[in-house]
Amino acid sequence: MKSFLFVTDLDNTLVGESRALAVLNEKLKQHREEHGTKIVYATGRSPILFAELQNEQQLLEPDALIASVGTEIYFKGSNTSDRTWSDKLSHQWNRDTVVAATAHFADLVMQPDSEQRPYKVSFWLTEDSAQEVLPQLKSLLQQQGLDTKLIYSAGVDLDILPRHGDKGLAVQYLRSLWGIDATQSVVCGDSGNDISLFSYNEERGIIVGNAKSELLQWHNENPANYHYLAQAFCAGGILEGLNHFGFIA
Ligand code: GLC
Ligand code: MG
Repeated sequence: MKSFLFVTDLDNTLVGESRALAVLNEKLKQHREEHGTKIVYATGRSPILFAELQNEQQLLEPDALIASVGTEIYFKGSNTSDRTWSDKLSHQWNRDTVVAATAHFADLVMQPDSEQRPYKVSFWLTEDSAQEVLPQLKSLLQQQGLDTKLIYSAGVDLDILPRHGDKGLAVQYLRSLWGIDATQSVVCGDSGNDISLFSYNEERGIIVGNAKSELLQWHNENPANYHYLAQAFCAGGILEGLNHFGFIA
């Protein structure tokens, strides 16, 4: 068995099936100890909501935490987000102007303060409103010369991020820092903010059995033999996929 880079989303991907999670944790822990496998969480949560999840669930300490939909990276043992990464995101990003532009849309409901981050502005938006609002918001942001990326997940969450920030780009950054090939990496997800994980390179991908329609639709439109659609849900699906790719036995 060789070391690999293990990257997983948390809510409804790693977390959700506690029995399977316990089994997976044990295997990953052992793999890290024996082979130096790296464990990375890639979550939409801010570090504040990540800490809440850590209190509620049995989670291994990751080698790095990609938080706030890829806009913050925390290495093991550090409480400050990586400067090299945040400097990349600050390019052509003006948070105040983004917030001002969103004020034109009554359907956008601000998420709690904890989820408003230096490089992430987040709202709740219903699926019905999204059809109309998203294209309009996109063109308004463009007109104002704002280089942003809109990510809509699970029919409810809208994140506005800098063009150069998302979970997938954060993984590319970590891979090059650690010198790990895409083919020795595996990424796991269930919803819209995970699509970028599967998009940039040939990382092996596991889509858990309970994935949301936007990710399943993306997968249908972008088939790749290095992406695996699991039957089982959450950590059960991850175990299934890791076996499929031969990362664990
Ligand atoms: C997490 C974050 C939220 C974000 C969502 C989708 O729930 O807390 O701010 O909108 O992920 O990315
Ligand atoms: Mg999720």
